Amino acid sequence: MKIFIDTANVEHIREMNSYGIVDGVTTNPTLIAQEGRDFAEVVMEICEIVDGPVSAEVVSESAKDMIPEAEELSKIHRNVIIKIPMTGEGLKAAQICKQHNIKTNVTLVFSPTQALLAAKAGATYVSPFVGRLDDVNHYGMDIVENILTIYDNYDFDTQVIVASIRSPLHVLEAAMMGAHVATIPYKVLKQLLKHPLTDIGIDRFLEDYKKIPGK
Ligand code: E4P
Repeated sequence: MKIFIDTANVEHIREMNSYGIVDGVTTNPTLIAQEGRDFAEVVMEICEIVDGPVSAEVVSESAKDMIPEAEELSKIHRNVIIKIPMTGEGLKAAQICKQHNIKTNVTLVFSPTQALLAAKAGATYVSPFVGRLDDVNHYGMDIVENILTIYDNYDFDTQVIVASIRSPLHVLEAAMMGAHVATIPYKVLKQLLKHPLTDIGIDRFLEDYKKIPGK
């Protein structure tokens, strides 16, 4: 499974990238706003850190306006993936982007049938938001399983990015289901890295090392 980091914070991206675990990055308008910096400047800096797909989202609501916006965002860096909302206009835009060889990530997907339509429209990636579904008492990972089955049934090339991840268990389930990508917030990546028994084990080894004659 590919691991993307779900943030626009360049320090966090740099740290995780230094561990050799980051295959790509997803941003959204909320994440970029949190940084208080120029949109294009942040996206460019992220692309210089990570050599992989970096999602940047359009904010236009009509396909007519999304296309020039997508073209502008694509000029920032060759690795930019255009994030497009899962609406009728978004699907029109995804289809046109595909014809123009612009890769897309259809976002804000909350049902397997939305994901089916996104794949038919030619989306490169689709992002089901599992945490936000859990928040409204709907088991989010269920839709990931259904999307993977549908894509497998019909040999769609669209890759599934498990998004809105809130805990290490979401990541475990995504990997067990064979999702193509999990986009993971910094806090959850930190949680994945740590295990109390690892820390206890290191402390014990270091203590015992001191007991070796001559050490
Ligand atoms: C995905 O690409 C989105 O940026 C993200 O996962 C949204 O997650 P949230 O529900 O934590 O805002």
